[in-house]
Amino acid sequence: MNMNEEYKKIVAMKSNLKRWKNNETFSPYNIELHMVSKCNTKCKYCDGRPWFYNKREMNFGSFLKIVKQCIDLGVQEFRFSGPEPTIRKNELITLLKIIGKHKRTSSISTNASLLEKEDLKKIVKIKGIKMYISFDSHIPSIHNFLRSSKSAFNNVMRTLSIIKRLKLKNNLNYPQIILVSVITNMNYNKILDFIEFVKEYQIRHIIFQPLIIQTTYATKLKLNRYQLKSFISKIDSIQKLLKKYGIDSNIHDLRNKKYFEKSTNSFGLMLDDSNNNQDLMFNVPCFDPWWSISILHNGYIGPCINLAEKNKISLKNHSIKEIWYGNFFNDLRSKIFNKNYPQACAQCKVCANKIVELEKGRLIQLKTKL
Ligand SMILES: C[S@@+](CC[C@H](N)C(=O)[O-])C[C@H]1O[C@@H](n2cnc3c(N)ncnc32)[C@H](O)[C@@H]1O
Ligand code: SF4
Ligand code: SF4
Repeated sequence: MNMNEEYKKIVAMKSNLKRWKNNETFSPYNIELHMVSKCNTKCKYCDGRPWFYNKREMNFGSFLKIVKQCIDLGVQEFRFSGPEPTIRKNELITLLKIIGKHKRTSSISTNASLLEKEDLKKIVKIKGIKMYISFDSHIPSIHNFLRSSKSAFNNVMRTLSIIKRLKLKNNLNYPQIILVSVITNMNYNKILDFIEFVKEYQIRHIIFQPLIIQTTYATKLKLNRYQLKSFISKIDSIQKLLKKYGIDSNIHDLRNKKYFEKSTNSFGLMLDDSNNNQDLMFNVPCFDPWWSISILHNGYIGPCINLAEKNKISLKNHSIKEIWYGNFFNDLRSKIFNKNYPQACAQCKVCANKIVELEKGRLIQLKTKL
C-alpha cells in the first residue's frame, strides 16, 4: 500500500468517526466480500474458519445486488477474500468489471491456483485492481509443504509470469501485485533470497504476515525466541534490499517482537497501540465499525468477519444501508468508543493482518489533523 492510499484511508476513518460523533451520516470506505464457503487447499496454518461448517452460499444475483448497493452507498474499495474467492472466478470477474467501471478500487486475495491465462487477460483490463497473492517461499518444497499442495509453487509462478507478460505486452500498471508471506520457522531466515527471487515479477508490495496460531500444526511452525531475534536483526538488510528494488512492505513495523509474540491476541495489540494515541477523540483500538463492512457467503454482515460470524445479522430482511446506519453498528460504535468492548472483540484474531497493514497508518493518524 503506498502512502497516498494509506493517508486516504486514515482520513476516511477519522472523518467518519468525527461525523458519527456529530450525528452526521458517513459512508463505509471498504467492503470485504466472502463469496465462497470453501477452499480448494488446506494450508498447514489455516483453519479456514468459519466457512467450512456453513456451506450455503448466496447466488450471483445477491452479490450483484450487494455490489450495486455498496456503490450507491459510496464504498471506495472492494476486497474479495477467503477462503478462496477464485472458486467462483467467472462471477468474481464479472463483479470486478462492474466495480472498475464505477471507478472504485478492488482486490482479490488468492492462493493463485485457479486463475488461467484467459481469466488473467480479463483481470488485467480492470483499472485499479490489486491482487494479494500468497507466497511463503521461493523454495518449492517449502511453499508446497506449507500450502499442502504439490502444485502450489508452480501455480504462483505461472500466475506471476502470465501477469508480468500481459502487463508488459499491453503496457499496463495493473494489477498491482502484493505478495503475502506468512513468517514461520521454515522461511524466516530466507527472506533476502526470497526478495531477490520475486523482484523479477513487478511486485509492488510484500506483506510479511506474523503467524497466527489457528491450527494444532501451526505451533510447530512458530519462531522460537532465537529465531525471532535473528529475524529482527535482519530487518535493516531486508529493508535496504526492498528499497533497492522499489518494493513497499510492512517489514519496518515488525521490528517490535510483540507482533509475533502476541499475534494470536489481535485485540490486545490494537489496544496497546491505541493507548499510545494521545488524541482522545481517535484512540479507539479498532476503526472497522466506522469504515468497513464484511459480508459472508451466507449473507451474514458485520464490520469484520469475526462479528459477521458471531452476531448472525443477515442481509435477508434489510438493505446494507439500513444495517450500516442501524442499531447493530451504532451500538457497537458506542461500545468501542466508550471502551466497553464486546466479548467477541476481546477474542478477535481476524484483524492481525490489519494491524500490520495499518501500523504505518497509525503513525500518520497521530499526526493528521482534520
Ligand atoms: C485466509 S487467506 C484467504 C485468501 C486465499 N485463500 C489465500 O490463501 O491467499 C488470506 C491470507 O491469510 C494468510 N493466513 C492464513 N492462515 C494464517 C495464519 N494462521 N497466520 C497468518 N496468516 C494466515 C494466508 O496465507 C493468506 O495470505
Ligand atoms: S490460507 Fe487460503 S488457500 Fe490456504 S487454506 Fe486458508 S483460505 Fe485456503
Ligand atoms: S472483532 Fe476485531 S476487527 Fe471486528 S470490530 Fe472487534 S476488534 Fe474490530
